[in-house]
Amino acid sequence: MLPPVLSNILLSIGTATLLFIAYNLHRFITLHFLPSRSPLAAYKPKDHTTTSWALITGSSAGIGYGLANKLLSLDFGVIILAHEGVSEAVSRLHAAHPNASARIKSFTLNCMTAPLPEIEALVASLEPLPITLLINNVGSVPLPPPVFRHFRAFAAADIDNTINLNLRFATHFTRLMIPHLTRTASSNACRALVLNLSSGARTGMPYLSIYSATKAFNHSFSSALTREFRHFDYPIDCLCIVPGDVRTEGNRLGMQGNAPLAKDFARMVVERVDEAVRQGRVEMSPYWRHAVQIKMLGVLPEGLTRGEMAKVIETKIEAFGKEQ
Ligand SMILES: NC(=O)c1ccc[n+]([C@@H]2O[C@H](COP(=O)([O-])OP(=O)(O)OC[C@H]3O[C@@H](n4cnc5c(N)ncnc54)[C@H](OP(=O)(O)O)[C@@H]3O)[C@@H](O)[C@H]2O)c1
Repeated sequence: MLPPVLSNILLSIGTATLLFIAYNLHRFITLHFLPSRSPLAAYKPKDHTTTSWALITGSSAGIGYGLANKLLSLDFGVIILAHEGVSEAVSRLHAAHPNASARIKSFTLNCMTAPLPEIEALVASLEPLPITLLINNVGSVPLPPPVFRHFRAFAAADIDNTINLNLRFATHFTRLMIPHLTRTASSNACRALVLNLSSGARTGMPYLSIYSATKAFNHSFSSALTREFRHFDYPIDCLCIVPGDVRTEGNRLGMQGNAPLAKDFARMVVERVDEAVRQGRVEMSPYWRHAVQIKMLGVLPEGLTRGEMAKVIETKIEAFGKEQ
């Protein structure tokens, strides 16, 4: 027999643990399985006549294009920003949304090399458009093959290029866009939203050291902004999106079996943002399997985590090898 004090303590711990599990399960289920019925309505002007615009960086392909496509179907205007495939992406969007031509705009910019004055000029040219959604999506591993390599094999330029593309651009661009987003939200009695694309790799993957580190920056930067905006009552919500493997133009070989297509992943992002913001989250993995995988990375023993991560990348290396 346990002494009554000890059994009371154990009972309290057990009850608190069960409540904690039930609370988190409820949050998980509402986020992943009860999609919003009118997604992103909070980011549209209340007058229902002004078009809200979304600016999506890196949106000529992959997840960015998927988001543009989905947002057009929700009556947002979209601004495509990319470097090489802009006109082809715009033609595809025009074909998919024949009645939305006036809601598609585009800019060509090399986000990896753009100096600050060019970024400032871009922001100035956006002034007339009521932008309420800023999606910092551009990012990749901008290296000549092999893209998966040991850190010691990086050239200095590879390091700078990855940092410039994956975090330098978004950092300057976001700072310059905050006054615009604040103004648009305040003058239209609605809210604005910043989404920042990180990755499950943010915890540090072998063969992807610099990419992982930039994605950790995206995550930490986004979380800091979310907290700053909330604490100081900005009319801007901010959320970090943390994908696992998504089938895109930039990630198409050696995929994990459950990897969603970019268009499906984009739909999940759009349908889950409202609930994630309502729950007060700083981040979300919109696809439930990714959410579980990424959570597991934080709790598995390190030896197992390392082995699993290496296996994921080595499958990709093998698939790239076969393609060449
Ligand atoms: N796919 C995944 O499995 C996965 C997983 C975790 C995180 N993510 C993150 O999700 C985001 C999107 O990934 P994705 O796989 O959809 O990418 P993607 O298919 O490789 O597409 C990248 C987009 O970025 C644009 N881009 C590339 N370099 C650029 C440059 N120098 N200047 C301007 N635009 C440039 C490309 O356009 P142009 O070619 O026209 O320039 C394209 O529109 C990234 O931040 C990535 O880190 C992806």
